[in-house]
Amino acid sequence: MNDIHILVVDDEESMRGFLTLMLKKEGYIVESAQSGEEALQYIENKIYDLVISDIQMGDGINGVELLKRIKSISEDTMVLLITAYATVETALEAFREGAWDYLMKPFDVNEIKIKIRKAIDKRQLEDEVIRLRKEVSDKYKHQNIIGKDNKMQQVYALIEKVAKTDAAVLITGESGTGKDLVARAIHFSSTCKDGPFISINCPAIPESLLESELFGHMKGSFTGAVQNKKGLFEQANEGTMFLDEIGELPLQMQVKLLKVLQDKKFRRVGGMEEITSNFRLICATNRDLLNAIEENRFREDLYYRINVIQIDMPTLRERKGDIPLLVEHFIRKYQGRTEKQINGITREALAIIMDYTWPGNIRQLENIIERAMTLEYEDKITIDSIPEKIKNSAQKFDKIELGDNGLDLKEYLDKETKRYLIYALKMTGGVHTKAAKMLRMPVRSIRYLIEKYDLKDITLEELE
Ligand SMILES: Nc1ncnc2c1ncn2[C@@H]1O[C@H](COP(=O)(O)OP(=O)(O)O)[C@@H](O)[C@H]1O
Ligand SMILES: [Mg+2]
Repeated sequence: MNDIHILVVDDEESMRGFLTLMLKKEGYIVESAQSGEEALQYIENKIYDLVISDIQMGDGINGVELLKRIKSISEDTMVLLITAYATVETALEAFREGAWDYLMKPFDVNEIKIKIRKAIDKRQLEDEVIRLRKEVSDKYKHQNIIGKDNKMQQVYALIEKVAKTDAAVLITGESGTGKDLVARAIHFSSTCKDGPFISINCPAIPESLLESELFGHMKGSFTGAVQNKKGLFEQANEGTMFLDEIGELPLQMQVKLLKVLQDKKFRRVGGMEEITSNFRLICATNRDLLNAIEENRFREDLYYRINVIQIDMPTLRERKGDIPLLVEHFIRKYQGRTEKQINGITREALAIIMDYTWPGNIRQLENIIERAMTLEYEDKITIDSIPEKIKNSAQKFDKIELGDNGLDLKEYLDKETKRYLIYALKMTGGVHTKAAKMLRMPVRSIRYLIEKYDLKDITLEELE
């Protein structure tokens, strides 16, 4: 649980002292101010969970006025008002302005303790429910990493291994290979699985807002900072911070991130308070960071910080054997979303899908299956609902098998030419004119090739 920060505001010293002491004993972090003006200074510089304020305070800002100002600076801060001169009107006004509650002096100490405890618990519970609701869907997502290929087995082994540590992980791989999925899998099998999983897609946030998103900000620190706001690093406390597409992070932010990772401390934009946050860092990129370092677009020192353990995601074309499994998985996933019940895929359609090179990897495969399932008239996905582009491309590369070692094309074509030539001679009883016709070339060329491959003196039997 995060620390709870409370500000006590009262012009009467004995009351201030009493409340402060009592709340500290309850385990809260408590500060106090002796006037509304002083309280505002505190509130501008720090985010409090609760402010307890007297309504009547000398000639300065009164409690209700303070309440209004707090709400305009830091909406989420709860305000509890205390007064000896309660009237129905002030109470109503306080509630209208967003007060959380209202107490009359003299009050029962136990009553106030319980009230505060309940409010804080309720607030934390609400935050927790919102978070859990989100995480249930996140969690559901990660249970379905599909793939039996060796390269995926290695990924699973690494996930298990890093989950036991709090080392920074860098997930690399082309777009759509499952980096997001793996980041969640690590979080939900790690020791911080009960903490939050906070993710941010770096290029999706304009550079000017990135800092305040990550670090939080205080009201008025820049145009548009209309409220005090906690940043993502702070929210990730006791959980996982996932920085997606870290290769796109502007250099200036790289410096700031490095500092956070080194110090584990930072300040909100426009804030004085030092915030500590304890999170596990996972980064992902589809860019070659080493190359980016060479080109001075990525800091080498940051690279070593974020890349304690690297998980490299295989492309889909490197693990084509997993395609049938994935197709089946996506058919099941999208079943029931259309009126028509689609329960499989035809052999021809699967063959085309297996042949394709999938530059967009699993994301692209998923899209194609989803699309096919909405377009298909049969109860299985047929070639009719597969986009032309994929069909054409599959035919274009039909039967080509190029391994990691590549191939000597000239030598290969030479061998194939010889093979076809011998076959044609065999089929035509060695009659050059007929063989030439069969291979659609001039007799002259056939003779040349016979010479070239040393087939001149070969007998028909030998051709067998
Ligand atoms: N191994 C997998 N098994 C099942 N679905 C996957 C797998 N890998 C990726 N996906 C799905 O493909 C889509 C893209 O994955 P994502 O993790 O966002 O890729 P990346 O972050 O690498 O671009 C998501 O809908 C995800 O659920
Ligand atoms: Mg992603």
